[in-house]
Amino acid sequence: MNVKQNLISTHKPRIFNHPERFVEGWYWVIPSKKLRVKEVKPVKVLGRELAIYRGKDKRAVIVDAYCPHMGAHLAQGKVEGNELRCFFHHWQFDEQGFCVNIPCLDQPIAVRLKTWPTAEKYGMIWVWTGDIPKQPLPFVPELENKECDVAFGNDFLVNSHPNAVMINPIDAQHFNTVHKLASKINFDNQEINQNAIIFSNTISIAKSSILFRLIRPLCKNIVQNICYWYGSTNIVTVRTNLFQVHIMVALRLLEGSKSEGKVILISQKRGDISGWLYNRVLLWLTKIAARYWIKDYLKIFQTINFDLKTPIKADHSIIQFVNHLEQQKPLMLKTWQLARSHSEIREPPATWRDSKSND
Ligand code: FES
Repeated sequence: MNVKQNLISTHKPRIFNHPERFVEGWYWVIPSKKLRVKEVKPVKVLGRELAIYRGKDKRAVIVDAYCPHMGAHLAQGKVEGNELRCFFHHWQFDEQGFCVNIPCLDQPIAVRLKTWPTAEKYGMIWVWTGDIPKQPLPFVPELENKECDVAFGNDFLVNSHPNAVMINPIDAQHFNTVHKLASKINFDNQEINQNAIIFSNTISIAKSSILFRLIRPLCKNIVQNICYWYGSTNIVTVRTNLFQVHIMVALRLLEGSKSEGKVILISQKRGDISGWLYNRVLLWLTKIAARYWIKDYLKIFQTINFDLKTPIKADHSIIQFVNHLEQQKPLMLKTWQLARSHSEIREPPATWRDSKSND
């Protein structure tokens, strides 16, 4: 296939960078420590209004915001034990959403408030945007089932879709052009499951770069893994002969094809006080580095009109990321309903582009 034919053969992605679509998965809600026992708060996640509360058993519960009686916002209600009582007429709902008390009736009626699967990890509360979680919470593959220390970086808003912002760590060309970092980068990739994929590379620091002169005596190569979950959360693992640290960037789609993001810095827990101190310093330094790194790419993604019209070989990893995303279950912003047109249901998921490029 020549260049011209390849350009003509491209499909329009059905999920990637779609202003009203995201994939079913786990998404961040609020940091765990922002929700105390007996507290209830309003939150808006992926366009849907929700209420979140923490009962006396310390478990976080996420429910649809509006009371199934007359629509009062349940974040104005009160947490009683593990249950939530609506402020308006005092109907009470348990943590599974069943109505368990209506003050003016002897018996509650059969009505149920919609609840959403909720979990906590890395100091964050997460919600699954479907009925039953089919995959795990985003986790650092190197630290699966290990205890971690975490720190939060700066929150941010950016004028691009989460899927587009996500491609930055696998955009091989920009390491040279923007960061003046590497002489050559090749990514290998491996799918962990239907919703997660890892890209790996080893960066040889270019001898001409300022960074090379600063860190070359300490780190000859930097191994970098980028693990993507649900096309909207990535974890960049940086490993040198001196340290290993993980930077999670978790994004949610906003109306207008924008993103709101959280940065979580993660390191494996170390046993003693010196280990604790080491991690504090490591995470603090990573926070400073991440701030500059994210500032750089936000500069691009605040103004970009993302449209990969002319891919070349160096964009191969981005195309693989898009194709991985296109196989996942698309949901609509606000309703969280399945997003499929009739023609999409009839056709099997297509590869967005073939592996050929324009060079
Ligand atoms: S609106 Fe909630 S109990 Fe009436």
